[in-house]
Amino acid sequence: MSSSNSFKALSLLMMIAFAIVQTTMAGDPDILTDFIAPIGVPINGSFFTFTGMRALIDKDPPPTFHALKASKAEFPALDGQSVSYAALQFPPKSVNPPHTHPRSAELLFVVQGSLQVGFVDTTDRLFTQTLQTADMFIFPKGLVHFQFNADAKNPALAISAFASASAGLVSLPITLFNTSIDDNVLALSFKTDVATIQTLKKGFRP
Ligand SMILES: *[C@@H]1O[C@H](CO)[C@@H](O)[C@H](O)[C@H]1NC(C)=O
Ligand SMILES: *[C@@H]1O[C@H](CO)[C@@H](O)[C@H](O)[C@H]1NC(C)=O
Repeated sequence: MSSSNSFKALSLLMMIAFAIVQTTMAGDPDILTDFIAPIGVPINGSFFTFTGMRALIDKDPPPTFHALKASKAEFPALDGQSVSYAALQFPPKSVNPPHTHPRSAELLFVVQGSLQVGFVDTTDRLFTQTLQTADMFIFPKGLVHFQFNADAKNPALAISAFASASAGLVSLPITLFNTSIDDNVLALSFKTDVATIQTLKKGFRP
């Protein structure tokens, strides 16, 4: 083999190895420090403490579905640590509409009540389950999923863990019907007319 050919083979091998490493990295990129703190500001234990979840016990339950997040945005000490939480509060008959988290799987733990959950994989297969208190369910990374409290009387509460400090949220109803995607594009995509699309869009405008 000529040296130029062996160089090409080596380059190809390195590209494949790099692609494998990329696809097997489960969390956020590694950081080269113990933690990431604001520069020039003295920190102590309070920097590593998040008290925002006290709202779960101190306040009245919300009238509609509500996600209380502890991600990098609310809790800066999570930056670089590849973890975050969300507390999901479901009044009776409320839904967390179909959505995805582009940067993480979601491990949901039902703390109170029961939930109907489901996700759709990339072959359009739907997986659903009815969860009881103390059950856990895993929503694979990036797949469209939902949760529904079908109980007409009792609320439900779930805690979700993410393998990213910033899992991200793409809510399908909002992404599709509360942004400026052209009505004609949506009408063609949903095999309907512009008037139907406009009716759907109206539901999101305050
Ligand atoms: C910790 O730091 C915060 C913010 O800089 C400050 O308000 C607080 O008093 C500090 N606590 C202690 C015990 O030093
Ligand atoms: C829809 O978009 C408008 C304008 O950006 C915003 O004020 C409103 O809160 C959004 N509605 C929802 C349900 O996100």
